Amino acid sequence: MNLGLRKYILKCPRCGFEIEANPYVMRCPKCGELLDTLLITDKVRFNWSNLRGRGVWRYRELLPEVGNVITMGEGATPLIKLRSYSNAYVKFEGANPTGSFKDRGMTVGVSLASSIGVKGIIVASTGNTAASAAAYAAKAGLECVVVLPKGGVARGKLGQAMLHGARIAEVPGTFDDALEYVLETVLGSGRVENVNYYPLNSINPWRLEGQKTTAYEIVEEIGVPDYVFVPVGNGGNIYAIWKGFRELMELDVIDHVPRMVGIQASGAAPMVKYWRGLGEAKIDNPRTIASAIRIGKPVNWFRAYRAVKYSDGTFIEVSDDEILMAQKILGKEGIGTEPASAASLAGYLRALGDGLVDAKDRVVLIATGHALKDPDILLMGNNGNVISISSMDELRALIINGNLKDNANSIINKN
Ligand code: F0G
Repeated sequence: MNLGLRKYILKCPRCGFEIEANPYVMRCPKCGELLDTLLITDKVRFNWSNLRGRGVWRYRELLPEVGNVITMGEGATPLIKLRSYSNAYVKFEGANPTGSFKDRGMTVGVSLASSIGVKGIIVASTGNTAASAAAYAAKAGLECVVVLPKGGVARGKLGQAMLHGARIAEVPGTFDDALEYVLETVLGSGRVENVNYYPLNSINPWRLEGQKTTAYEIVEEIGVPDYVFVPVGNGGNIYAIWKGFRELMELDVIDHVPRMVGIQASGAAPMVKYWRGLGEAKIDNPRTIASAIRIGKPVNWFRAYRAVKYSDGTFIEVSDDEILMAQKILGKEGIGTEPASAASLAGYLRALGDGLVDAKDRVVLIATGHALKDPDILLMGNNGNVISISSMDELRALIINGNLKDNANSIINKN
């Protein structure tokens, strides 16, 4: 079967071992490191002015050629300039079909799974991967198994996985435990062992190929920014975006890459710990309100580390309070993000405050997932917006001067 992976080789970033590209081997057989998919740029005929269509598959020349393209128009997300920080753009990944950046990867991963001819796909997830996998599997007519940390997934995401018909397996513990279940079951040796259910966690490098298109879109729209801020959980996305920029550099489209800044929540910041030389990129009992990035043992830690190190970037941690504040600031600009997404703005504000970044620097903040993913957070502590009125006169009093705030207060006082 021609899977169209011939423009790639699989290469170990640690020991240099190389093998022919195939969808089944994910770890280096020599040293166990996760293998990179290297695009052999001599084998692609990429011409910026020949791009056609919109979204992920606009860049098909730089993606695996799969027999069966399973797509729902993912990618082509808005890049929104902020009012309050004029050199900051938000890349709103919440505009993807299932409301997160995962759809960019899933269109490639599920297309590959469908082309190989498996029965279904399997993922461990903090929620967004599950929602995306479930939807794309449904679109492809494949089964989907999602393994979730019991009680650790935001309600919107759980509802999506249910809606799209995934089989949901809840396990005790955190996401790290859920991922271990999946990896041990289907990828024990680093090679896909059960070809019935193809694993599509970010350990799978082909899924990350889809996610790298975020970088292509940014370059097409505004060129190379000075910094890109990315919330980091498992570390796959920051690596994928960096890889996208790197490839454009190898193709002579751009002459440098932006500095990649990884943001973690302070209760779940193993990469920050490693970056500061405080031991392995692992912590027990990760805690944060941003459940999407509540991860203590990032499986792609070496990938994320390389993205930040080779782009001369950094890792930053932010508190849950800073995350919630950033979510509100974005909300006031009309941009609805879930907490993990807002971490990129929280990180930018921290970096500005610490003088790491100048207000004149052009930055892109990756807003990874939509506000509706986590409705419980939205309804928490926003009661000040809500007043109850019992007559039309009260509503008239509220709007008559066009001064909603004062009128609202007087009504609240009256009640
Ligand atoms: N932001 C959101 C909204 C996420 O859902 C995730 C990851 C990340 C950021 C971090 O991306 O893992 O590539 O560093 N969510 C995964 C999931 C773990 O299962 O949905 P990463």
